Amino acid sequence: MISKKRIAIKFVVVVVVVVLSCVFVSGDARVRCIESEREALLSFKNGLIDEHGVLSSWQSDECCEWHGLECSNTTGHVITLQLNNVGYFEGQLKGELRSSLVELRRLNSLDLSRNDFGGVPIPEFIGSMKQLRHLYLFSSNFVGTVPPQLGNLTNLKSLDLSSNAFVSLPHQLWNLTNLQSLDLRLNYFVTLPPELGNLANLRSLDLSSNKFGTLPPLSGNLTNLLSLRLSFNFLSSMSAFFLDSVFESLETLDLSYNQLNGSMPDLRAFPSLTKLDLRGNNFTGHIPLTIGQLSNLQVLDLSYNSLEGSVPLSIGQLSNLQSLYLSYNYLKGSVSESHFSKVDNLKSLDISFNSLILGIPSDWSPPFQLERLNLGKCNVGPYFPKWFQTQTNLAYLNLNGTNITHEAPRWLWSTSSSLQYLCLSDNQISGTVPNLSSTSIEHMDLSYNQFSGRIPLFPVNASHIQLSVNMFSGSISSICETPHDALEHFDLSNNQLAGEVPDCWEKMPSLSYLNLASNTFSGEIPLSFGNLEVLVALQMHRNGFSGELPFSLRLCQYLIMIDVGGNELTGEIPTWIGQLNAMRVLNFRGNQLHGSIPREICNLTLLQVLDLSINDLSSTIPDCFSNFTLLASESITVTYKYSMPIGTRYGGYEKWEYEYSSFQWKGKESEYRKNLGLLKLIDLSSNRLIGSIPKSFSNMSYLNSLNLSRNSLTGHIIPDIGKMKMLDSLDLSHNQLSGSIPTSLTEIQMLPILDLSNNNLSGKIPTGTQLQTFKASAYAGNDGLCGDPLPMCPEDSVRPSSTTDPEGNMNEKDDIVFSFMQEVVISMAFGFIFGFWGVIGSFILKRSWRIAFFGLLDAAGDWFYVRIVVFVSKWRRS
Ligand SMILES: *[C@@H]1O[C@H](CO)[C@@H](O)[C@H](O)[C@H]1NC(C)=O
Ligand SMILES: *[C@@H]1O[C@H](CO)[C@@H](O)[C@H](O)[C@H]1NC(C)=O
Ligand SMILES: *[C@@H]1O[C@H](CO)[C@@H](O)[C@H](O)[C@H]1NC(C)=O
Ligand SMILES: *[C@@H]1O[C@H](CO)[C@@H](O)[C@H](O)[C@H]1NC(C)=O
Repeated sequence: MISKKRIAIKFVVVVVVVVLSCVFVSGDARVRCIESEREALLSFKNGLIDEHGVLSSWQSDECCEWHGLECSNTTGHVITLQLNNVGYFEGQLKGELRSSLVELRRLNSLDLSRNDFGGVPIPEFIGSMKQLRHLYLFSSNFVGTVPPQLGNLTNLKSLDLSSNAFVSLPHQLWNLTNLQSLDLRLNYFVTLPPELGNLANLRSLDLSSNKFGTLPPLSGNLTNLLSLRLSFNFLSSMSAFFLDSVFESLETLDLSYNQLNGSMPDLRAFPSLTKLDLRGNNFTGHIPLTIGQLSNLQVLDLSYNSLEGSVPLSIGQLSNLQSLYLSYNYLKGSVSESHFSKVDNLKSLDISFNSLILGIPSDWSPPFQLERLNLGKCNVGPYFPKWFQTQTNLAYLNLNGTNITHEAPRWLWSTSSSLQYLCLSDNQISGTVPNLSSTSIEHMDLSYNQFSGRIPLFPVNASHIQLSVNMFSGSISSICETPHDALEHFDLSNNQLAGEVPDCWEKMPSLSYLNLASNTFSGEIPLSFGNLEVLVALQMHRNGFSGELPFSLRLCQYLIMIDVGGNELTGEIPTWIGQLNAMRVLNFRGNQLHGSIPREICNLTLLQVLDLSINDLSSTIPDCFSNFTLLASESITVTYKYSMPIGTRYGGYEKWEYEYSSFQWKGKESEYRKNLGLLKLIDLSSNRLIGSIPKSFSNMSYLNSLNLSRNSLTGHIIPDIGKMKMLDSLDLSHNQLSGSIPTSLTEIQMLPILDLSNNNLSGKIPTGTQLQTFKASAYAGNDGLCGDPLPMCPEDSVRPSSTTDPEGNMNEKDDIVFSFMQEVVISMAFGFIFGFWGVIGSFILKRSWRIAFFGLLDAAGDWFYVRIVVFVSKWRRS
């Protein structure tokens, strides 16, 4: 009894205590901050520079409620400190990391990522926080050697040192055998020791974007490793690291963008792979047949290598495969339906830029539903394969250059309601395009085909519409029917479009590139162009536009190119043109402009091409050409910062060409290519300009081409004309220039084209490198000129002549006509693309929807990027 009573009393006491303690804890809302830890945190805070008030909550008594802190619910100790600036550099902490942090004796997880600790090493005291399980120091501006003290953190499970400037790791780090996740990417590490193999519990290892040239044989086996990333290093072989180790459980292997060469490795050493990325290496030989044994494979990316031979049929066994990328190799032969016999789950297929033939019967029923299909440069034609009709989820379809020569079937436009990207360029596809306004198309490139009829109505969300080089005809007034808020790139050039250009451009507030060139448009240039606030390039050459340039155009402050050459524009060159100070290319060639060249034009200091030729201008030339800083410098204002502009991720700008009809480049190709940067040209020819050549011209020492011919210029040729040392072409013919030819002209090293004919020049032609090599016709029609290649001057006639006949001495230069057009056009296009994105790339980058969308179509961007790189390297080589 007694004992029972005692037990009952004991029980009551226990219950009361429990209840009381519950009341105590819950009544006091939350756990209490431990005072010593609060002091430590305040001291830590005092070491930091907090310009953005990230730590403004670090004041109250209750430190567990401070920003970035988490306390244990039971003990009140701080267990998590997370100051990882998720606001993306807007709230960066700076300053010193104080060792008072070690007072947080139960701290489990420390995250100081995305701050700026000023380029110092990691403070050693962190190594004494032995209880730490997670340490994240991503992108915190730490440098140098990782302190050996970190090797004391034996409880660590995750360590993230990525995106700093570390150069070496202490050997103590390889004692951290509990590590499950190690992230070292984006540093400057060069080597790893074999002891990396000690980390037997490692599941994820990211070594990408370092300077590893080779990897060691491992001391142990990373048998638990699931993910290994090594992209963007300098690995040149699949060393012992791979060949002698066991990677039984490895699921993700990313070796992209290294320098791996030779045959592809035998992948049977990685039986569990689900994702294999070998893109951007230099693997040669065939794709191994054994690839079909990687039965878990979901993503296989072998693009941008030098693989040869045919696509192995065993790929058709990969029933889990979702993405197959084989583009940019040298694969040959036919891709047949057996290649896809079991790939039921395929979502993304890119076999572009090989020499593959699509040998699939038109009525095939594929086992998959693709979302993304890129067959660029495969031989697909002559018809559209009917089986495309079954692919109702396609978001991306690229059939660029696939030898399709027949009419586009009706179903093409309606098969997939989610189609966002459609490229059919470089085929011979005919037919009309139906109303697309209710489709999802955002990017459509139909260029270089034979489409005819009216231009289609396209959807409100379209951003890139490229219809150039087709046979579209009739009016384009349909573009006014709906707003096109997202339209950025609109190219209708080289069609048979006609009538007036409608005045509704306020409906396209995002338009940055507009090309209406080479059609038969007429009437005035619409006033509403002034609403195109972000317009960068306006190309309207070779049409029948009349009237004046609209005043509203001065509002397009980002314009870097106006090309209205070959129209019937009248009036004067507006003075407001001087307000468009991003301008690089101004082409008014071949219109009926009269009056003067306004001085304001000299405000356009970035000008590279000024072509006012074949008009009716009758003033003197303003003497302010020293203001064109770009023409005075080597610089081509190419902004490499955006050299892979997001907007080109589809490869959509590939055909951006600045068509410049006036070049008459002659000369030796090799010579020209030496200077091939970006064309720098001034052409004021065929006007009625008077007065003399302004002295400031000589400042344009990087000008390539100057044409002042067919005016009424008088006075002497400026004496220091030789300062324009990059001139490839100088035409001053058909003026009334007098005096002698300045001797400085001989200083121009290479001058393939010179024409001084039909002036009033006199005296002896200076002898020098070039001037004697031109045809006599270059100097003809100047009564007073003499000397080689013209007949001898009277004062020299006593000496024996080395020249028999002026024509006999003729240099071949004039006879060799080179087709530099292509080079020039391409280089213009490049400068334009780069410059363009330099100007407006930044605000375009801000749009989050775009980022998401481009993320989806990422691979296409690399395609374009590689095209650029290939082009640039080819260009350099020549
Ligand atoms: C503490 O309690 C809160 C709310 O009850 C809970 O959300 C949190 O996850 C707990 N923290 C720990 C470390 O258990
Ligand atoms: C931590 O590591 C360093 C260097 O590896 C060592 O000298 C030191 O004794 C260790 N400290 C503690 C507290 O274990
Ligand atoms: C040269 O350009 C500057 C603007 O960069 C302008 O202020 C100045 O007036 C220009 N000079 C002439 C002669 O037009
Ligand atoms: C200069 O321009 C005129 C037309 O205005 C053209 O006939 C001539 O060929 C040009 N000169 C050169 C060297 O291109």
